[in-house]
Amino acid sequence: MRKQIAAANWKMNLTLAQANELLDEIISKRISISKDQEVVFGVPFPYLLLSKEKVKHLQGYFISAQNCYTHISGAYTGEVSAGMLASCAIEYVIIGHSERRDYFSEDNRMLAQKVDIALSNELKPIFCCGESLKVREDGTQNEFVEKQLATSLFHLKPSQIQNFVVAYEPIWAIGTGKTATSDQAQEMHAHIRNVFSKKYGTAVSDTISILYGGSVKANNAKEIFSKPDVDGGLIGGASLNASEFEVIIRSLK
Ligand code: PGA
Repeated sequence: MRKQIAAANWKMNLTLAQANELLDEIISKRISISKDQEVVFGVPFPYLLLSKEKVKHLQGYFISAQNCYTHISGAYTGEVSAGMLASCAIEYVIIGHSERRDYFSEDNRMLAQKVDIALSNELKPIFCCGESLKVREDGTQNEFVEKQLATSLFHLKPSQIQNFVVAYEPIWAIGTGKTATSDQAQEMHAHIRNVFSKKYGTAVSDTISILYGGSVKANNAKEIFSKPDVDGGLIGGASLNASEFEVIIRSLK
């Protein structure tokens, strides 16, 4: 069975003291997860090592960075490389979040480079895709998302896309309180799986975890995660509250 994942995306939130407290609170709940489930904390760079230290003995709990740079090393003041993350024993990196695409002009080709450098450092990308409200209103969301995936990922070998993690996050649902219905999520997730299946075959596409993101909360996670092609979520706002995130973790299939 492919992994069912509850991934927190803290974005640019919390002080060190608050990050400590939030992790301690979640860990103290001793939420046991099955071997097919994972909990991932996508934390700001300064909190990676601290977070890693806290979860390193917990089965199925992992830490993610929220970004990495396209280059190996060098004169890129302020950037963080995939190799640095790997050297800190970080397992995941979020790549291509819509906020990076919108505010930092990251395009599909640049994201292809980031995916490559992440994989070559044995980091697992959580690759984000998803359409704006305008695209959804035009009814071209399927083509739009397919292009994002094809441009950034289709150069990969089947062995590299095996067990890959994709997060579908419709931009109109991020931080807006407006969630896609579980049927809308399922429809897009099935489309995404089909896009991978056409390129790589079903044996590979069936191993890809496709997470839904966009206003997932304690009160809607169970319904959204129940859909056959939804393999968990990438959670922003609700991951900053231990009780909310606990319910979301417990909602995994
Ligand atoms: P949200 O954010 O849960 O606050 O909508 C999700 C995300 O951007 O990853």
